[in-house]
Amino acid sequence: MEGGGPLTGRICISGAKNASLPLMAASLLTSDPVRLSNVPEVADTHLLRDIIHQLGGRTRSLHDGSMSIVARELGSEVPEALGRRMRASIVLLGALLARTGAARLPKPGGDEIGARRVEQHIRGLRAMGAEIDETATDFVARARRLHGARVLFDLPTVTGTENIILAAVMAEGRTEIFNAAREPHVQDLSRFLVKMGAQIHGIGTDELVIEGVPRLHGAEHHVIPDYLEAGTYAIAVAATGGDVTLECSPPEDLRQVLLKLEEAGVDIEVGEGEFRVRRHRRSHLRPVDMGTWVHPGFPTDLQPQYLALMTQAHGESVISEYLFENRYQHVPELMRMGARVRVEGRTCFVHGPSDLHGTDVVVPDIRSGAALVIAALCARGVTELHHAWHVDRGYQDLVGKLSAIGAQIERRKPPPERAGAPTTDRSYE
Ligand code: EPU
Repeated sequence: MEGGGPLTGRICISGAKNASLPLMAASLLTSDPVRLSNVPEVADTHLLRDIIHQLGGRTRSLHDGSMSIVARELGSEVPEALGRRMRASIVLLGALLARTGAARLPKPGGDEIGARRVEQHIRGLRAMGAEIDETATDFVARARRLHGARVLFDLPTVTGTENIILAAVMAEGRTEIFNAAREPHVQDLSRFLVKMGAQIHGIGTDELVIEGVPRLHGAEHHVIPDYLEAGTYAIAVAATGGDVTLECSPPEDLRQVLLKLEEAGVDIEVGEGEFRVRRHRRSHLRPVDMGTWVHPGFPTDLQPQYLALMTQAHGESVISEYLFENRYQHVPELMRMGARVRVEGRTCFVHGPSDLHGTDVVVPDIRSGAALVIAALCARGVTELHHAWHVDRGYQDLVGKLSAIGAQIERRKPPPERAGAPTTDRSYE
């Protein structure tokens, strides 16, 4: 990438990765065909599609760009080689237990951004009658018939809430989830399940009540736009200066992020299902402190990008990461590009503005990769991003979309799916 220029034009935001994965898992709850449109073409959805094939389900890309999923017969063992490559495959635990009465899948380990435990998923499913054994490498679960339960999360967990919802919709009786995660993708899952015949009350709140039904049927659903993709491009335009409209992207889910951008001196114009981000290149960005929190707080998945933006602000900003204990993998790489950042535990002190310069950087994970892309757009000279496949996990056609608004960016190696997925013992996230 070669930095320097402002970004101008329009970008159409794709469907949300973090909504598509649980929706695909939910499609396995019925033997009827299901149709999902707006599923993004990213590495993670491709991987889950492959897992569904291995489980015995069928998927097809239809002429209008939607995906059909049919799971007439379904196995219960997630192949280790595929399951281990994506932490989000944990959402298959609730879905397989509900549909087949059994599930075996690799345990997601800790990773770069934190310990990422799943004990709350397991506790909730056990309360619903599942027997779950943990081997050194796998979860092995059985349940003759799941029953409703009262599940209280100590900390709202996104995939944990999704797992309990998936297990509860066909369980016997009522399940209540307290302190449930409310992220837009969790709401999208519930709305899809309601179309399939589920009874879920309290969607969008932190208390969900689910009355189990004997069976679900097929349905069609349009995946919500990816507010994290939209937020990433909005922050990129704020950092470089320019004038970009983000289409197919309702601004409501990004309210906190857009307020922070306005506070920093960026002009935001909200329209119908789209919004426009403008900043004159010579106007100074103000430093603005920020702390991540669960929805509707500032999303942790946009913290690395926001930190990259603050390297361009005039003064010191304080960034706090409250959800993951170690989500500052981007900081050493940003510092190699000239950023001045001090990390103290969960807090970062960012001193701007930094005159960033291009160099070789290694992408540690998907959102850190997005932060490095933003830094590269601001930097003098050429930045080479290695392990850029992390970014392909969640950003559809990043190179094409950025090129279209004037960025100097090209891909030197084909994305992993064509080159053969990278082999690593670590999970992707
Ligand atoms: N936690 C526990 N125990 C649990 C579950 C969670 O201690 O049983 C802790 C985690 O360690 C973490 C916090 O609770 O500190 C929140 O974790 P959560 O379970 O909500 O995260 P997740 O479900 O594993 C999803 C997204 C992540 C996103 C987080 C937070 C998907 C597929 N993944 O992960 O997305 O960062 O929620 O919003 O939806 C990404 O897209 O880049 C990404 C990492």
